[in-house]
Parts: sequence; C-alpha cells; structure tokens
Amino acid sequence: MAPDPSFAPTQLAARAAYLLRGNDLGVMTTAAPLLYPHMWSWDAAFVAIGLAPLSVERAVVELDTLLSAQWSNGMIPHIVFANGVDGYFPGPARWACSALAANAQRNRHTSGITQPPVHAIAVQRILDRARYRGRSTRAVAEAFLDRRWDDLVRWHRWLAEARDPKEHGRVTLYHGWESGMDNSPRWDSAYANVIPGNVPEYHREDNTIITDPSQRPSDLEYDRYLWLVEEMKSARYDDELLPKVMSFAVEDVFASAILSVACTVLAEIGEDYKRPHTDVRDLYAWADRFRAGVIETTDERTGAARDYDLRADKPIATETVAQFAPLLCGGLPHNKERALLQRLEGPRFCGHPDLKFALIPSTSPVSRDFRPREYWRGPVWPVMTWLFSWAFARRGWAERSAMLRREGLRQASDGTFAEYYEPFTGEPLGSMQQSWTAAAVLDWLG
Ligand code: SER
Repeated sequence: MAPDPSFAPTQLAARAAYLLRGNDLGVMTTAAPLLYPHMWSWDAAFVAIGLAPLSVERAVVELDTLLSAQWSNGMIPHIVFANGVDGYFPGPARWACSALAANAQRNRHTSGITQPPVHAIAVQRILDRARYRGRSTRAVAEAFLDRRWDDLVRWHRWLAEARDPKEHGRVTLYHGWESGMDNSPRWDSAYANVIPGNVPEYHREDNTIITDPSQRPSDLEYDRYLWLVEEMKSARYDDELLPKVMSFAVEDVFASAILSVACTVLAEIGEDYKRPHTDVRDLYAWADRFRAGVIETTDERTGAARDYDLRADKPIATETVAQFAPLLCGGLPHNKERALLQRLEGPRFCGHPDLKFALIPSTSPVSRDFRPREYWRGPVWPVMTWLFSWAFARRGWAERSAMLRREGLRQASDGTFAEYYEPFTGEPLGSMQQSWTAAAVLDWLG
C-alpha cells in the first residue's frame, strides 16, 4: 500500500495559498468550492487570518466585503451570497431577507441569522502582520481600521444588546446554525422541542455534494433548520419579535466566550490606535459581562461550561468542545481552570488513547452522543484547533499552544485541507479544499 502523502511545511503552505487563490471570487473567498460556494461570516474572519501573511491588502478586502453586508442594526449575517452563484440551499430566495427584513442591506443578498464573533481576532492578526511590512501596507491596515472601527463596535454592541437583552452575559441564539456547530449534541434537547409546521418544499444541495449521509446532518434535522427559518420570516427577522416567536432559543457559552475575548481584543486595538474612549470602555464592559456570564454556568468540580435552553428553562449538559469555553475567555478560579485543562488533556478529549492526533474532538469520544464521522458530533475541526491554539498563546500557555499547532499541522499534512477529520483514523471528511483549514495552516506557517 502506498504511504499516506505527507507534505513538508513549505509545500503545505504553498498548497494552502494556492487553495485560497482557487477559492477566491475576487472580493470574497468561498468557504469551500462546492459545498459552500459563498462567504460565511466566521469563515471569512479565519480566511482573512490566513490571507494576512500572503497579502494584508487582500485580507482587508475580505473583511470589507463581509462588513459591507452588515445589517443596519449591526448584525453581521452568517452568509453573504456571491452574486449569480447557485448550488447552495437555502439560498437568498428562501431567506427572503431583502423583501422581509427592514435591517437587511438592499444591495447584497444575505442570510438572516448570525455566527460567532471572531472578527476582531482577524483584525488584530492583520494589524500585527502589517506591522512587519512596509509603510504602504501599514497604511492599508490602518485605513481599514479607520473605515470599519464603528462597524466593528456596532457589531459587538448588537450582540450585547439585541442578543443579551437581560444582561445575563450570554449570547442568545435562535438557530443552531448561529453557533456554527449546526448539529452538535449541544442542541439536541432544544431541537427536540422544535416541531416543524408547514415547511415549504425544499431540496437539499449539501447531500448531493457530500453523498455519504454519515458525514452530514439528517433530513429530520434539516426539517427543523428550515422550520426555524420560516419562524424567523414570520417575525420579519425583527430583533424584538424573535424572542417571542422562535421555538428554539439557547444561550451559547462558546459564542459568549468568543464575544468576551473579541471585545477585549478590540478594546486593546482601540487603545493602541487611539479610538474613542467611550467605545473602549463599552468593549471592556462587555468583555467583563460575557466572561462572567460564561463562568456562571461552569460546573463546580470540573469547570466545564454549560449552554442554557431558554425554552425548557434548564442548563444543557453535553460533552463537547464548547465545555472548554472558559479557557478562551479566562476568569475561572485557579483550581477549576486546572481541572478543566486536565479534562481537555485527559482521556475524555485530547488524551483519549485511540486518537490519531492529540486534538480536541468536537464531541467527546466517551459520550453517548459521539459519532466519529458526523459533522459536529465527533470529528476534529482544524479551525477549532487554531482557535484554541491562538487563545492558549494569548493566555500565556505557550507550550499548550505549540502542542496544538504541532498536532494540527501533522493532521493537515495530508494536504486535503478537509473541513473535519475522523478522530481515530485521521480520515479527511466533509468538504475538501475548505478555505478556513488552509487559512489555519497559513497562519501557523506564516
Ligand atoms: N453550516 C451550514 C451548512 O452546512 C450552514 O451555515 O450548510
């Protein structure tokens, strides 16, 4: 049998750069060539992180395209559709945002939901890369910040106000897609209470591209996803009405931890680049509020964070990567943090003896909910590896960060740039040529 291909770092970086060029439509990079032929919000942020070592100028264009589709209430929509491109469902006609949503941009087709706020992290990476370039590149990055500072603050403000009206310090989501972890076991119990009504007929595109059903969400799950879109349409995507009409409403600790750390990152940028004091003050206040909101959900013994189901009025206890949210934003007392790190590195996650690489599976292999091939129910997602590696470096845990980077690069050295990987065999799954996987590699090797 021929050995698995394994690319050396320089070859791997060249292939990643080639991939991003191939997925580039001009001013946006598709999340993946076939499965996701448009721009996704958090994908775009990670793509910008990967583009930055290649070209700060092109990385800035990516974020400009995304932000030009920002809604007037401040929401960054989870998909910005490429003009004239079909092949993805639900497309603009199904979302009908231009017709229904008062806040939607008139000149851009978008979806009507949001995604985790990782964008400030991308802005920071771009500014950091620009610092080592010539004056004109630095000027491009700084002009971007001048142009988009208010939009970035408005984005965070919308999350803090419209999605946390009671100031719990946790972001409320009205669709599992908003978490980015569509079919994670985190949402099983909340989805069990979503009873699809009259879902207009539809035809899935995803399973014509990924034809192995064990790698994608099920038809029943899709019925629920599509039903929630109908509920949102009935509310015309109105921030005030969504809490009243949506049969799915959860507080997501992972998105909340990301918001907390993103607010801190943006506040630090604001201080460095002399942005208005009032913005910086608000950002630090939101960072504190969402950090406290995450910490409040944590288990006394293990430090693991729990999402909250607002409809059932109870915490959600599942063993997924989201349990480790407090490691992203900090704030746990020392003993709890140590317990949570032990859990991460122990046999329930990265230290499971059968794993091919010591990386974080999306769901614990010891959980009853674990399915090693199915999307967010078990596989390892390289972009999660990148996020934790970045966060650990920021927290001063250089060795842990380097370990994730090393293992992440070993996994990626197959050169497929898969969306996700089977944790035991290392088989690449889902979409190949996934932009954010290439981006993670480029940042690591940049
Ligand atoms: N991740 C979703 C999909 O699979 C949508 O955001 O299509």
